Amino acid sequence: MEGVPIRNARRGDIPSLLLLWNAMMKEIGAADPRFALHAHAREHQAALFQKWIQDEEHLVVVAEEGGRLVIGFAVASIADGNGWQIPNRLGRISDVYVAPPRRRQGVARRLAGRLLDLLYETDVDTVRLAVAVSNEGAHAFWKSMGWEDLELVLQKDVDSA
Ligand SMILES: CC(C)(COP(=O)(O)OP(=O)(O)OC[C@H]1O[C@@H](n2cnc3c(N)ncnc32)[C@H](O)[C@@H]1OP(=O)(O)O)[C@@H](O)C(=O)NCCC(=O)NCCS
Repeated sequence: MEGVPIRNARRGDIPSLLLLWNAMMKEIGAADPRFALHAHAREHQAALFQKWIQDEEHLVVVAEEGGRLVIGFAVASIADGNGWQIPNRLGRISDVYVAPPRRRQGVARRLAGRLLDLLYETDVDTVRLAVAVSNEGAHAFWKSMGWEDLELVLQKDVDSA
C-alpha cells in the first residue's frame, strides 16, 4: 500500500469523494453528535467539491488503488492570515480520510504529504488544521507527522430560555 498513487482530484471523482466524505462525517458524528450532519449536507458538499476542484484556493487530492478505486482523499485551502500575526498566507487542511479497510498502511501519510508539497509550492507561510477532541486516532496521526497542538476550541450552546 506504500505506493498507492496520489493524484489531484477530477470532476469524475465527485461521486467517490461524496461517498468517502459521507462515511467520514458519519464516523465523526458517531464519536461526537455535535458534528452530526443536517438534512441537506450532502447536496451542499457536492457543490463544494465541484467548486474546490476548480478553484485555485483549494487543493483536493485522492488516493487511487488499482487505477480505479478511490480509497482516500484530502482537502486543503489557502487564505490570507488575520493581518496582525505573522502568517501572511495560511494553508488549512480541512479533511483527510482513508476508508477503514485501508487504514494503518500509510495512505493518510501519503495524502497529507502530497497536500503539504502542493501547499509549499504556493505562497503560504504556515499550515494549520483542526481535530475534534473526541478524535484520538486523528490526533495521534498528526502528532506522528510532527504537528503540534496550537489552540483548544471551546463551545457552549446558546440557551433557548
Ligand atoms: C486519521 C486517518 C486519516 C489516518 O489514516 P491512515 O491511512 O490509517 O494513517 P497512516 O497509516 O498514514 O498512519 C500513519 C501513522 O499515524 C499514526 N496513526 C494513524 N492512525 C492512528 C490511530 N488510529 N491511532 C494511533 N495512531 C495512529 C501511526 O503512528 C501511524 O503509523 P503506524 O501505522 O506505522 O503506527 C484515518 O484513521 C481516518 O480516515 N479517520 C477518520 C477521519 C479523520 O478522523 N480524519 C482526520 C480529521 S483531522
